[in-house]
Amino acid sequence: MKILVIGASGLLGGQLVKDFSEQNEVFGVDKNDKVDGIAYLDLLQKERIRDVFLKFKPEIILLSAAITAVDWSEQNQDLAWRVNVEGAKEVAVAAKKHGGFLAFYSTDYIFNGKEGPYSEEDRPDPINFYGKTKLEAEQIIQKELDRFLIIRTCSIYGYQREGKNFAMQSLNSLKAKETFKAFDDQFGTPTYAGDLSNITLNLINSKKEGIFNVVGSDYVNRVQFAEEIAETFNLDKGLIEKGSSEELRQIAERPRKGGLKVDKLNLEVGIKPMSLSEGLCAMKTKAAKEMKNK
Ligand SMILES: NC(=O)c1ccc[n+]([C@@H]2O[C@H](COP(=O)([O-])OP(=O)(O)OC[C@H]3O[C@@H](n4cnc5c(N)ncnc54)[C@H](OP(=O)(O)O)[C@@H]3O)[C@@H](O)[C@H]2O)c1
Repeated sequence: MKILVIGASGLLGGQLVKDFSEQNEVFGVDKNDKVDGIAYLDLLQKERIRDVFLKFKPEIILLSAAITAVDWSEQNQDLAWRVNVEGAKEVAVAAKKHGGFLAFYSTDYIFNGKEGPYSEEDRPDPINFYGKTKLEAEQIIQKELDRFLIIRTCSIYGYQREGKNFAMQSLNSLKAKETFKAFDDQFGTPTYAGDLSNITLNLINSKKEGIFNVVGSDYVNRVQFAEEIAETFNLDKGLIEKGSSEELRQIAERPRKGGLKVDKLNLEVGIKPMSLSEGLCAMKTKAAKEMKNK
């Protein structure tokens, strides 16, 4: 099958390219085209989106690209909206025109975090601008397309040289023997990028449609997440300092009790996602491999 991965240089997108390439023809595009084999596509360029669809004619589109920096989105709302909402709309319209099946990645940040973890049926109520853009994109996709997949996920982690994600940030600090401050009042269900990619493959192959939560099976706060990292990588847990949302004010408000439930995934697809310790062990193995090949 012909698969278009939009956001192919990102943490998840890179993994999707790798996993889907085993049995498909994959074309990876991103605004960040520094990675080998990735072609340039900025979601702000509508003409270019149409051109990619016209030339490649994808049967499946995995839309992983987005502005994911939550505080940055709060301060740059116009650009965040144009990329996350209008860009997603253009992709949905192109998918409709060319008969492609769209899988879109969304977030637990569409909820207010008062009583998570959330099921697919719970009512969204975003409390920050990033969450608003992702919810709006979800609604547009549901309106434009008869068939689609919306995959909601939470705190994606995995090995990345540049270390943007929470797991890499804490890992790099702890390795450098620096203190690492984490929130003990923000809960979620961290998700290993490799597991999310494999489950996406499974959902696509089994022709599932609609909204699915795909997250790791553990519900933890950021301190517990960092402590599990220290344990897995044999680093000093004592360097982890507890902080609260009140004390460490972030620019954008975060859901306190976020995270998602995976009962639907268990029941309808028979999949049990990785636990945090399983995901971190897989990340450790990948990190060791990358260090060896460096
Ligand atoms: N990260 C999380 O914890 C999390 C949680 C829930 C849901 N999600 C969703 O899951 C998806 C994947 O997340 P991720 O962690 O893999 O994100 P990521 O590593 O930040 O990757 C996103 C990619 O999109 C690219 N991008 C940004 N603006 C673009 C534009 N205008 N046109 C084309 N590409 C653009 C980014 O390029 P640059 O690097 O140059 O900006 C980056 O390569 C996103 O849709 C996100 O909303 C993420």
